[in-house]
Amino acid sequence: MRVVLGITGGIAAYKATSIIRLLIEAGHEVKVVPTQNALRFIGATTLEALSHNSVDPDLYTDVESVKHVELGQSADLIIVAPATASFLARYAAGIADDLLGNVLLTSRAPVLVAPAMHTEMWTNAATVANVETLRSRGINVLNPDSGRLTGKDSGAGRLPEPEAIVEAALALTSVRDLSGKRILVTAGGTREAIDPVRFIGNHSSGKQGVAIAREAVSRGARVTVLAANIEGLQISGATVIATDTAIEMERQVNHLLQGTDVFISAAAVSDFRVAEVSATKLKRSQLGDQINLRLIANPDILAGVVSRVREEGLDVRTVGFAAETAGTQWALAELAKAKLGSKGCDVIVANDVSGSAVFGSEHNDALIITKDGEQKRIAGTKTAVASVVLDILAEL
Ligand code: C5P
Repeated sequence: MRVVLGITGGIAAYKATSIIRLLIEAGHEVKVVPTQNALRFIGATTLEALSHNSVDPDLYTDVESVKHVELGQSADLIIVAPATASFLARYAAGIADDLLGNVLLTSRAPVLVAPAMHTEMWTNAATVANVETLRSRGINVLNPDSGRLTGKDSGAGRLPEPEAIVEAALALTSVRDLSGKRILVTAGGTREAIDPVRFIGNHSSGKQGVAIAREAVSRGARVTVLAANIEGLQISGATVIATDTAIEMERQVNHLLQGTDVFISAAAVSDFRVAEVSATKLKRSQLGDQINLRLIANPDILAGVVSRVREEGLDVRTVGFAAETAGTQWALAELAKAKLGSKGCDVIVANDVSGSAVFGSEHNDALIITKDGEQKRIAGTKTAVASVVLDILAEL
């Protein structure tokens, strides 16, 4: 999604950096439009570096590209945070004397405004009337939080937390077709210990599973993510539980399955584990030139879930992933169909990992096949792939 972030001149302007970071992490494109006064509080260089986009608040540069119209028309969502009392007054009056004012008047996108100011300014009759006017026009104006303000005083007027602003803003655009559905997603790659230092692992970054989880949250689902070795993962609105080995993941999946509506098995699970894990570090000097590790099969977690669903008559949709080195789309489709059959899941998401271009990338080229024979190919960001997978699940 293309998000325009307007920043106006208040002390809370520095918090806009966290808003940019959260939006970028959620896979959105961010174009920052500060007012001239906002740039007294935060530098354009910082905003450019974080948003990966140029920042030029001047209405009279690049005139030939008619940027206020281009920005306004191409935005899917506009956030103004922080919004000063002066900005609220100008916006309520329809004044367009800077780039942000012009972008707001040219856009049809939903707008979220997050005011921040001193309590006296927030409760002033002029501000109250301006907020009322904006709300009556369908503009979403958040109430500020109460707490410590810039000086020694405290009261209503603090900018709400960046997470709350982003969540409220994204909720304005999302289809809530998974509202209340409980979704369990595994993501990342399991690690099987050899000794206390080494492990057998894989290249999975977990980005596709995380993109699905984020997208599901924005569509109203209650999401739990079992994150296998994804450092510091946080997903606003979802429960993230760290996991490590296949055995550990299987135990957690079995524990959480009851009450789940959809199980999405996006993690790369190690098929084998080391039979005898050494309690102490293996030393090369003692091992010589060869080491023989005996590997034993791990449980197939997805196949286990499918059996439980059948045996216990659970109402759970299941989604498997197939990372294949197929070579052609035809071969990929054949391998995906075979895997769909052998695992017994409702949907399979297959991709060709030849050349390993997919691992760690923001992009994917996936073939999604349902057990009813529906096929869809989607090449794009992992968020775009997530969105199609969830469209199919919403139909199911
Ligand atoms: O058989 P393969 O490993 O290619 O199957 C991939 C799918 O099966 C993925 O959805 C993965 O999460 C799941 N899987 C599993 N348990 C395993 C191996 C794979 O759940 N031991």
